[in-house]
Amino acid sequence: MREPIDARILSALRASPAGVSGAELAGRLGLTRAAVWARIEELRRVGYGIEASPHTGYRLVSVPDLLHADDLLSRLGRTRVIGRDIRVFEETASTNDVVEKLARDGVREGVVVFAESQSRGRGRLGRRWVSPRRRGLWFSVLLRPVLRPQAVTQVTVMGAVALIRAIRAVAGLNPGVKWPNDVQWEGRKVAGILTEMSGELDSVRHVILGIGVDVNQTASEFPEDLRGVATSLRQAVGRPIDRAELAAVLLRELDSAYARLREGDFERIADEWEAACTTIGRQVSVQQGDRRWQGRAESLDSEGALLLRSAYGHLERISGGDVTVVK
Ligand code: BTN
Repeated sequence: MREPIDARILSALRASPAGVSGAELAGRLGLTRAAVWARIEELRRVGYGIEASPHTGYRLVSVPDLLHADDLLSRLGRTRVIGRDIRVFEETASTNDVVEKLARDGVREGVVVFAESQSRGRGRLGRRWVSPRRRGLWFSVLLRPVLRPQAVTQVTVMGAVALIRAIRAVAGLNPGVKWPNDVQWEGRKVAGILTEMSGELDSVRHVILGIGVDVNQTASEFPEDLRGVATSLRQAVGRPIDRAELAAVLLRELDSAYARLREGDFERIADEWEAACTTIGRQVSVQQGDRRWQGRAESLDSEGALLLRSAYGHLERISGGDVTVVK
């Protein structure tokens, strides 16, 4: 898909920090100078600071704290699958539901839907996911992997690895991961993953990878019941984080991790996940519905399930539920 005009204008402005003339922009984009000016006006209207001077031409001097589909495309550049189509909503109930509908309409894999806020964001096990306006990244990705339903946990593991890499690159933190889907900083959750699947008994039709990252909330902006268990990247590093930059880096990491997954190289992803996992090697208790297991978390299996060594030496394969570290 050819990049939309605004994405190409923003890419050109980023590539020439000293300025680019209207004539040159018009030539590159195949537009008239008046049409370029109209697009620049529109970008200014949504908050982009674009200076225009007869000497230097157009210069990008500031960007607003909002997610703009064309801006994300321009930052992201070309990807294999994830992010070749990006849509941003000001508010939705849940981005997973928007993507579910796109999946049923036959949209091809890789589409990413962001919302600046969600009114009914949800987490695993029917929990709510608080998604305040412009404070985090709330988005879902449509995937159509060739996987057996039992192996869909691989997608969650891949999401966690991409999150860890992106947080490391943009915030300079080294977060931990708690099986299966929590990304944590100093024991408090900063991001979560909700993988939902549709398919038959033996084949997957599509997978929706939903990711929520608490980016810029201050402590008092979290509901009281979450303050002890959740935190944001901003609180962890002591400064606000550029959400659009984090989004672009994260999509790039997801795209390359997904390429590895499709090539059948889950092992390397699993190794990276295990290295960041705070649960492996610990005594844990796992609650899944009314069943409960205790044991030492040993590793991930080839499908992304957690292998637990019980006190009697049996190896249990855990594919869902809530993990608590016992000691
Ligand atoms: C969890 O930790 O339990 C998973 C949280 C997943 C939250 C994200 S935000 C974007 C997407 N839309 C939702 O309703 N949930 C996921």
